[in-house]
Amino acid sequence: MKDKIIVVEGDITKLDVDAIVNAANRSLLGGGGVDGAIHRAAGRELLEECRKLKGCETGEAKITKGYNLKAKWVIHTVGPVWRDSSVQEDEFLARCYRNSLALAKVQGIKTIAFPAISTGAYNFPMDRATKIAIKEIKNFLLKNNSIEKVFLVCFGISAYKMTQRILEKSLED
Ligand code: APR
Repeated sequence: MKDKIIVVEGDITKLDVDAIVNAANRSLLGGGGVDGAIHRAAGRELLEECRKLKGCETGEAKITKGYNLKAKWVIHTVGPVWRDSSVQEDEFLARCYRNSLALAKVQGIKTIAFPAISTGAYNFPMDRATKIAIKEIKNFLLKNNSIEKVFLVCFGISAYKMTQRILEKSLED
């Protein structure tokens, strides 16, 4: 397990993996943050394919090609907006990871990179979100050997250090 979950710092659009996950909104028509970066890097054809998907519900995931990205696929998922720390928000974030991994498995994806879904514009606390992400990824890897590497991509060194610390602790448990 330890060698399957890797924390990296940097721009997810630069990663040479089978799939990168996009922290999208329900329209799937692009936005700011990682969504904006992915659409800029992938090019116009990504938006054209996204239009055909007719949106995506919170917690769900849909897949497109990666176009000009190094990644062959983009898995778009919509995280919850952090409002009142209800359990509901935790569950919806967990579903983003579960559904993205399930889609990756069906597609035969072996290496996948996640951004810190919902922790930017959607205001989800980074530490809480990271614990949910790692829990779901570990659960998936315990039951499936289809995916060889899961990268947690952190934007900024402080996010990287926090994520690394939470992962190390969770792997001790
Ligand atoms: N690579 C990796 N991580 C990134 C990148 C990038 N190029 N750009 C931003 N991030 C990080 C942010 O620092 C944050 O930790 O991704 C995390 C998610 O932040 P957002 O992109 O703001 O996504 P989210 O909080 O899920 O909000 C989604 O924002 O961009 C819009 O269309 C999107 O409406 C949707 C909302």
